Amino acid sequence: RRRTAEPYKIKSVEPLKMLNYNERKEALENAGYNTFLINSREVYIDLLTDSGTTAMSDQQWGALMVGDEAYAGSESWHHLEKAVKEIYGYKYVIPTHQGRGAENLLSQMKIKEGDFVPGNMYFTTTRAHQELNGATFVDIIIDEGHDSLLDHPFKGNVDISKLEKVIKEAGPEKIPYVCIAVTVNLAGGQPVSMKNLRDVYALCSRYGIDVMYDATRCVENAFFIQEREEGYADTAIKDILKEMFSYSDGCTMSGKKDCLVNIGGFLAMNDEELYIRGRELVVLYEGMPSYGGLSGRDMEAMALGIYESADDNYIAHRVHQVRYLGEQLIDAGIPVVKPIGGHAVFLDAREFLPHLKQEQLPAQALAAAIYLDSGVRSMERGYVSAGRNKVTGENNKPKLELVRLTIPRRVYTNNHMDVVADSIIALYEKRDQIGGLEMTYEPPTLRFFNARFKPL
Ligand code: F0G
Repeated sequence: RRRTAEPYKIKSVEPLKMLNYNERKEALENAGYNTFLINSREVYIDLLTDSGTTAMSDQQWGALMVGDEAYAGSESWHHLEKAVKEIYGYKYVIPTHQGRGAENLLSQMKIKEGDFVPGNMYFTTTRAHQELNGATFVDIIIDEGHDSLLDHPFKGNVDISKLEKVIKEAGPEKIPYVCIAVTVNLAGGQPVSMKNLRDVYALCSRYGIDVMYDATRCVENAFFIQEREEGYADTAIKDILKEMFSYSDGCTMSGKKDCLVNIGGFLAMNDEELYIRGRELVVLYEGMPSYGGLSGRDMEAMALGIYESADDNYIAHRVHQVRYLGEQLIDAGIPVVKPIGGHAVFLDAREFLPHLKQEQLPAQALAAAIYLDSGVRSMERGYVSAGRNKVTGENNKPKLELVRLTIPRRVYTNNHMDVVADSIIALYEKRDQIGGLEMTYEPPTLRFFNARFKPL
């Protein structure tokens, strides 16, 4: 195969600072061994998240200047609304400051105390909002989704029999909606097939239950359908997206990922009644329904980002860059979640550090060790992120204990990926020297953001 390159060229650069070993050690200690608490100026290559870290295009930067900052009826809002309707196909749109703003509105409007919300693996903020409104989250992802080493083209798929079982046991009236993430972040950025989306929608329609997507990384999901699912190889990403969304009643969206912006999100739906209620509620939490916590220029940039993201060349390069890093690690025998997902490479910390028990926080410890070795910042997605059971207060023990190396969109070159690979390969060779951590401060909610640790 002929090699391809980035489908863009670089117009503006941001110089990076490189700390030496002792400076990194001090920064890590100051941050309580939590990579969330390290200052970005102390980071060389920042793979903490792909959220809001996108490089905007020159068109988007230009569009900031024409943003309409009117309090009501902003022209930029109309541009955003038009982009969502055109690319995602929903009838109604409510802007929010980011994804969790939309999750808050949706959960408040649809969930009653004692409800159940089935979903294909949880996401932290999504589940937190569901629980805050009195629902119990039920995981309906296929078993393969929990097996980090198992190769499967659509590991984000819903197990239809699990879904049907929940519906029958709880009763359809106790299920306000089914939440389908495309792709599944915590399973490793794994996609859901078109057939599965179709099947979920058909089953839910039979019971009169709404299907709401978490559309955060929907373009990555569309790419995997084009690449892997029979009959879609010659279908444009735009058309795949349209079909995907046709099997849902609405979505929450974190624009900070696949809308290619640094801030923004929305809630979209086809049900007019829900839209009318949403328009009331958004005023309380975000702002007028014509800005939802965003400035006009933010909405202008997001409208353009939505079109840019649905470009076949853009998304192919995006997913291939993630894979470029992942395959170097696989070739070196390093345990990673397979297959490589759409936004990140996930290291399997239990396999990487088999001498540590889960209570010794292998993923947290590995993330700290990577920063110390090379200034590369990653994120724990395991025992610490999974939090505690809301009823018993016991620590949740997720099957997956992962370190996420998340690739920002259009930001780093493949040379940066090489630096990351070299660091992790070097650490793997001396992995027996990496010790565990213990938590010294535990915040009550979403503890991973602010928790502090010390070496055992
Ligand atoms: N859903 C998914 C699947 C996400 O990955 C995120 C954010 C959200 C919802 C919430 O969106 O941040 O705009 O409020 N994920 C980020 C991450 C934080 O690093 O994975 P938000």
